Amino acid sequence: MAVIADRCPHVDVTVVDINERRIAAWQGDSLPIYEPGLLDVVRRARGRNLFFSTDIEAGIRGADIIFVSVNTPTKTFGEGAGRAADLQYWEKTARQILASATSDKIVVEKSTLPVRTAEAMDRILNSNDRGLHFEVLSNPEFLAEGTAVEDLEQPDRVLIGSRETPAGGRARRAVADLYAAWVPRERILESNVWSAELSKLTANAFLAQRISSINSISALCEATEADVDEVAYAIGADSRIGPRFLKSGVGFGGSCFRKDILNLVYISQSYGLDEVARYWEGVVRMNEWQEARFVRRMLATMFNTVAGKRIALFGFAFKANTGDTREAPALAVTRHLLAEHADVVITDPEALENARLDTAGLDGRLTFEADPYAAARGAHAVAVLTEWDAYRTLDYGRILASMERPAFLFDGRNILDHAKLFEMGFNVYPVGKRAMSHV
Ligand code: UDX
Repeated sequence: MAVIADRCPHVDVTVVDINERRIAAWQGDSLPIYEPGLLDVVRRARGRNLFFSTDIEAGIRGADIIFVSVNTPTKTFGEGAGRAADLQYWEKTARQILASATSDKIVVEKSTLPVRTAEAMDRILNSNDRGLHFEVLSNPEFLAEGTAVEDLEQPDRVLIGSRETPAGGRARRAVADLYAAWVPRERILESNVWSAELSKLTANAFLAQRISSINSISALCEATEADVDEVAYAIGADSRIGPRFLKSGVGFGGSCFRKDILNLVYISQSYGLDEVARYWEGVVRMNEWQEARFVRRMLATMFNTVAGKRIALFGFAFKANTGDTREAPALAVTRHLLAEHADVVITDPEALENARLDTAGLDGRLTFEADPYAAARGAHAVAVLTEWDAYRTLDYGRILASMERPAFLFDGRNILDHAKLFEMGFNVYPVGKRAMSHV
């Protein structure tokens, strides 16, 4: 919304939320999320045509277009628990729009939702007897965290789905016109509403599938003498495959991939398409296996026991340049290591607070250190779990000098200079590559 306000000075954008603390934070200089470049965008538009408020009713009444971005977590109860999307917040919002609206509105699904949610929303909204008309569109968001502003300012594509009726077409064009202020028209794709909803789930499933595919090959590389980065480079040179999103590692995390695939699985099952469901479920299963395999390799390497050994985890965020830890592979690794009675110490430049919250219920010896050198002091092993740039340039000689011997380094993101570290005296275990060991 901040980028829309920035690029469309002729449009007033009001962001409303029930959370007063969050709204207050958006009005200050310490924004509630860490996203490079966002503060500049907010500062340019705030008070001019970008407003933040907790007055949801007034927000609804005053708007022609309402973007709904409430959370749609995976259901934890009842039918479809663990797979289906929990739509209670979405439905509450639809009912609230209905209760407060005094004129026709375009309602845009921004949250990722199961296919055909728009239809349910359409029915709820248009069930009113006040003669109000609501046009429900789907405009899925494809930005990635850490590069959100860049992705929004130069998107590969914007997708807008609507009903294929004259009113649906008009609503679609109204939203397309907003984006057209800065996105070339040929990148604004229009489709029916179900295609738009399904495209978002499918895009995330395909992206995650690439990672699970290369991670499955990483296991084979470790068993043979192949090198996963060389394989990725060689296959990525095929223009049909392409080089991006082929980086093998400890596994994918983030708020979207797992949730959206499980959603796709649930939808497929509910249409009786069990083969389709099983196929996509495999992508999630491969990811869990990769996380567990990483710890199994640590265990096997460290003489089949890590009990009482200090192990430093470098990075807890699910990827670099974010403080977000949702579904981070680091959490799975921490859980597995604690189950082996390891003495785990976590360090991360941005995600330490979230790491504390995520691990609050776990039993075992777990500590947090802002300084990676302090985290590594006295450790038997360091495991790199997030590809923070800062970890590439640490003084590993100093780290090695402070560690127990033999000193193990598990590079879960393949970002370090393995040959150099080996020469220094580390026993180095990258993902999908030959281990370099002195022991
Ligand atoms: C993703 C999609 O990219 C985005 O389009 C969608 O809107 C939301 O979900 P995000 O979760 O922010 O975005 O991060 P992304 O950069 O896609 O990374 C997801 C995970 O995959 C991270 O844990 C990352 O480390 C991992 N990853 C990514 C790999 O392991 N290898 C890769 O080659 C790429």
